[in-house]
This record gives sequence, C-alpha cells and structure tokens, in this order.
Amino acid sequence: MVDNNIDLRSEIRRLAKEKNAVIMAHYYVDGAVQDIADFIGDSLALAQQAAKTDADIIVLCGVHFMGETAAILCPDKKVLVPDVNATCSLAESCPADKFAEFVAEHPGHTVISYVNTTAATKAVTDVVVTSSNARQIVESFPEDTPIIFGPDQNLGGYINSITGRNMLLWNGACHVHARFSVEKILELKAAHPKAKVLVHPECKGPVVKLADKVGSTAALLKYAIADDASEFIVATESGILHEMQKSAPNKTFIPAPPDDATCACNECEYMKMVTLEKLYLCLKNEEPVVKVDADIAAKAIRPINKMLEISQKLGL
Ligand code: 13P
Ligand code: SF4
Repeated sequence: MVDNNIDLRSEIRRLAKEKNAVIMAHYYVDGAVQDIADFIGDSLALAQQAAKTDADIIVLCGVHFMGETAAILCPDKKVLVPDVNATCSLAESCPADKFAEFVAEHPGHTVISYVNTTAATKAVTDVVVTSSNARQIVESFPEDTPIIFGPDQNLGGYINSITGRNMLLWNGACHVHARFSVEKILELKAAHPKAKVLVHPECKGPVVKLADKVGSTAALLKYAIADDASEFIVATESGILHEMQKSAPNKTFIPAPPDDATCACNECEYMKMVTLEKLYLCLKNEEPVVKVDADIAAKAIRPINKMLEISQKLGL
C-alpha cells in the first residue's frame, strides 16, 4: 500500500529523473497515467520509441506483450510494467504451440503476426505488424505470396478486404473490440447525425463497414484532429478519448458502447489495471521486471526488427 500523504505525481517524476527512467504509455491506459508519461503512443510508436531510447529503465504502461517487445528490443535495459497480470485477450487467443502447429500444417507460407502476441508466438513469425502498418507490410510482399496472418481474424479479414489478398487467418479476436455492435453505433448515429464514425480494425467486419475512418489509435487521433467534423463516435477502447479531447478540446467525442451496454464506454480491463499507484511502486521498487527467455528473444527479435525496418523504409 502507498502512504496517502505521498504526492504520487511528483514522486513518480522524481523517481523517473533520479533513475534515468522513461515512462511510456499506450493511449488505452487511464488518463492520469497518460498525463504523467514521457511518451504516449500506439503499439507501433511505443516499439519505435523503445528501440531508440537512451534511458536506463523503460516503464511500459500498457499490457504485457508491449513490455515484452520493449525487453526484446532493449536486452541491456531494465524493462518494467506496473502490473504483470495486465495481459491481452488477443495475445492469449494464440498460444505459441498451437500457432506453431498451424504454421507447420501450411508449409510455404510467410507468417505475419500482429504485435498483440506473446514473445513465443512472435518467435514462430516472419514479420510482425501493428494496426498502423499492417496494410503496407502485407503489400510489401508480392501479390502471390501465400500468407498466414494471426492472431486477429478481424484485422486480418479487414486487410484481406482492402488488399484483395487471401491470407489464411488464425481465429483470434480482442474481446473489447469484438463487443462493439452495429445496432448501438447506428443508435448513436441517429442521435448525432453529423458525427463521423472512427473504428479500430480489431472490430468485426460489419462495424468496420460503418466507419468514416478505420485506423490504429494513432491514425484515429490524427484524423479526429485534422477533420472538419465537430463530433465523432469512437469505436475503440475508450482510453483514446482522453488524448482526443486534449488535442481537440472544441470537438465532441462520443464513446461507442459495448453490445450489452453495461456501461457507456468500452474499456479494456487489462489496460485499466495500470494505475498511478502501481506505476509509483514499480518505479520505486524496480519491479516487476519483464523477462523473456533468451532463446525465444533471439527468435522474436528478427520479425520485430523486420517490422521496424520496413516501417522506416515506408516512412511510417
Ligand atoms: P494500436 O495501438 O495499434 O492502435 O492497437 C490497439 C490495441 O489493441 C493495443 O492493444
Ligand atoms: Fe488486448 Fe484488446 Fe485490451 Fe488491446 S484492447 S490490450 S487487443 S484485450
């Protein structure tokens, strides 16, 4: 437990400075954590930032696979996550041994994996992608390349539909994005007819079809800032609304609810496990440290670096 008299914000900043630690946060974590971070971004930006930081300690405020990616990219640094139990349903939907069997059953395929995977799944992958670069990386392979895409069948199906490819899909999904429904978004559209609909490609196909803009969290944020519309219905984890509202204070952002409408917003309970209190304790105690088995890391770094190289070449 943390003493109530402690000013968490100033202590976190003091500890980060004293220990030469960089605090990185994904757009889905609690707004208070995003506000204290040195850097906020989507999955691609977090990996790119980790690869180039000169800090001694990286504190990754996000889910476990994000910490693993940073640890694989920075074997000489200490990588911490505020809560080691903050996993990801999409990563969990693709156990490495089962994925390796699937790959072995389809010889001759290039294996493309979404970054939302464990290090062990990345180790049986040829190139990693994020929602920011999936289309461009898939298109960087000749059209007739047989491709396995895992684990997100929604993102994979979307990329198939916009590229005309016929990638073989693993049948995983994110439980948060799978919860958005056409019906609820149409209800919001009826109440806000001028609102543009922003959709993350982890959503199901019929929801993606309602979108004015489909993209990663960073792409949706950029669109919301630049677009002329003043209202937006946002179909992705509701943490992104924090930065949208900060970056475009005169615009209205309406979170799309989950299909059971138990709440107005659709939250990832794993991302929301990251709190200011846990961030403080993790910096203070320098734990939990993200550890990746050396053999797995040696295999997983290749497809991650390949993603970073292609992204750099494409200016992403
Ligand atoms: P991006 O960060 O690529 O938008 O992906 C969203 C996500 O689900 C991260 O877990
Ligand atoms: Fe994983 Fe979905 Fe949460 Fe993103 S929102 S971390 S994909 S469970």
